[in-house]
Amino acid sequence: MQNDPRSIGVFDSGLGGLTVLSAIRRKFPNESLFYLGDTARLPYGTKSPETVLKYALACAKALMKQAELKLLVIACNTATAHAFSALQDELEIPVVGVIESGVSETLSHVHLDSIAILATAGTIRSKAYERELKKQNFEGRIYPLACPLFVSLAEEGLTEGPIAQAISKHYLRQLPYLPDAVILGCTHYPLLLPTLKASLPHKTIWIDSGHATAHHLKFSPCLHQRGEARYFVTDAPERFQKVASQFLGQSIPIPDLISVD
Ligand code: DGL
Repeated sequence: MQNDPRSIGVFDSGLGGLTVLSAIRRKFPNESLFYLGDTARLPYGTKSPETVLKYALACAKALMKQAELKLLVIACNTATAHAFSALQDELEIPVVGVIESGVSETLSHVHLDSIAILATAGTIRSKAYERELKKQNFEGRIYPLACPLFVSLAEEGLTEGPIAQAISKHYLRQLPYLPDAVILGCTHYPLLLPTLKASLPHKTIWIDSGHATAHHLKFSPCLHQRGEARYFVTDAPERFQKVASQFLGQSIPIPDLISVD
């Protein structure tokens, strides 16, 4: 189908998935996007795999009630780690996660001997990145590092300044060596990129799994409509609007509050 006007659904536990949404919007300006931030149940990164799987299935179904979707993007590494296969099996539309593309993008840089993965505790525990790096034939050193406080910093809009700097240093000094590349394995973390970059040498390659995902997306485009985004949350819509507008560099309407249970 060459002109498919159905929408693309994108979900995350909160604001982090907006880093993926904005990359998709830039690359595909004609697409209609439906975004759900599961703010009532954030963070996902500290929850068990079973709980995250349940939440991810509920988010997918809730989005599919709002619009006819041609593609679902899991704009959350933790949900990708725990629910990607289940969502692929369960849904009749294509499902895209952020881990495979993040790894492909990383390995498109040659001469990498060491890679650090910064992610939520849940993603790190799942070893999903290590598995994917091995699947894509990476044989170098891998250092996984859980950085749970970054999610709160991003949700608070506290991504620069002394607090963000101190917390970035607190985590990054745990790396036992300077990695050639760092994968931001949580979609909230790119919001802290300037602060993170200031904490490691310039030659480190930083990978934003959300950008990589937008770059690798494949679907039948809609060529004729003007792309619009609609936003939904499961709690605190005004708060989401305020911080989201700060990150997106443009104001968004107050998201609709929906229940996903
Ligand atoms: N943004 C999500 C991720 O990519 C989850 C953050 C959280 O809810 O802990 O993993």
